[in-house]
Amino acid sequence: MQEVKVFAPASVGNAIVGFDMLGIALEQPGDEIIARYSDAPGLRITAISGDEGRLSCDPQRNTAGLAALKLLEHLDKSGIGIELEVHKHMPFGSGLGSSAASAVGGAFAVNLLLGSPLSKKELLPFAMQGEQLASGAWHADNVAPSMLGGVVLIRDNASLDVQILPSPPDLHAAVVYPQVEILTKSARGVLAPHITLKQHVVQSGMLGGFIISLFTGDYALMQRSLHDTIIEPQRASLIPHFYEVQAAATEAGALGCSISGAGPSIIALCRGKDAAALAGEAMQSVFTAAGIAHKLYLSAINPNGVKAIL
Ligand code: HSE
Repeated sequence: MQEVKVFAPASVGNAIVGFDMLGIALEQPGDEIIARYSDAPGLRITAISGDEGRLSCDPQRNTAGLAALKLLEHLDKSGIGIELEVHKHMPFGSGLGSSAASAVGGAFAVNLLLGSPLSKKELLPFAMQGEQLASGAWHADNVAPSMLGGVVLIRDNASLDVQILPSPPDLHAAVVYPQVEILTKSARGVLAPHITLKQHVVQSGMLGGFIISLFTGDYALMQRSLHDTIIEPQRASLIPHFYEVQAAATEAGALGCSISGAGPSIIALCRGKDAAALAGEAMQSVFTAAGIAHKLYLSAINPNGVKAIL
C-alpha cells in the first residue's frame, strides 16, 4: 500500500456527566488524513485544508504530525519518508474534539500505512501526545472515543486504562455549535481546583446512574442522571444563551443537555433520531433568534471510531 486515507470522528468530551473521564464518538463531522510513502526521508506535512491557514505544517507543532512522529519514533522508523495531508472538517475550539480527531487520524493513518503493527488501543499514547499539544493537558476523553468509537470510560487517564461501554442503539445526539471559539486551555482555566464532598457525592451518583443506563437501556434513569452539577455552572457564562438553549432542548424532549467538551458546542442526548432532530431544531431556534451563527450536527453514537476510507 503506497497511500492510505482515514476518517477520524468528532467526539463529545465529558459526555455531560463525567468530566475528563467519559467521551462519546460521533458519526459526523470528522477529519480526513492521508498518509503516503515518499522518497524524501522523514515525516512531512504537505497539505492542510479547512484550517483557514491556522495550522502549522511543522510536524512538531501540528497535532496530527506530532502523533505520527511519536509513533514513528516508537517503531524506530523515523527515517522513513512519509507525507501527511490533514483535511479539517470541523472548527477549532468548538468542543467537538477537533485537535483529538487530527491526532488520532495522524497516528492511525501512519500505523495503517506501515501495515498496522499496533492495535488502536496501543496507538492511544501517541495520539495523546499530539492532542496534548493543543489542549495543554492529558485527558483522553476525546482521543479515546475518536480512536475506539462508542461511549468510552477513561478509568485512568495517566495509564490510559480505557473501557468501551455499551450504548443503546437508539441513543442519538444533537450537537449545536455556536460560532464562538473557546479554546480548551482557557475553558480549563476557569475551573476551580477543588470541589466539596457533597458535590463529589452528587456527581458520582449521576455518573454511576448514566453508566448503568447505558448497560440496561433504562432511559428514565438516563434522564435523571444526565446532569453536570460541577463543571457546567462554571463554564455556562462562556457560552451565549447557554441556559436558554438547554431549556429549549429539554422542553423538546431531550434526555439531557449540557456543554460538549469545553464548549461552546452544546449536546443534547436523545432517545431516537427524530427526538434528536426536534431537540436540535429547538436549540438552533435560540441561536437564530439571538442572531448567532451556528451549525447543527445530528448523529447516532459512532461504534467504530477512526477508520480507513477510500
Ligand atoms: N474534558 C475536557 C474539558 C474536554 O472539559 O476540558 C475538552 O477537551
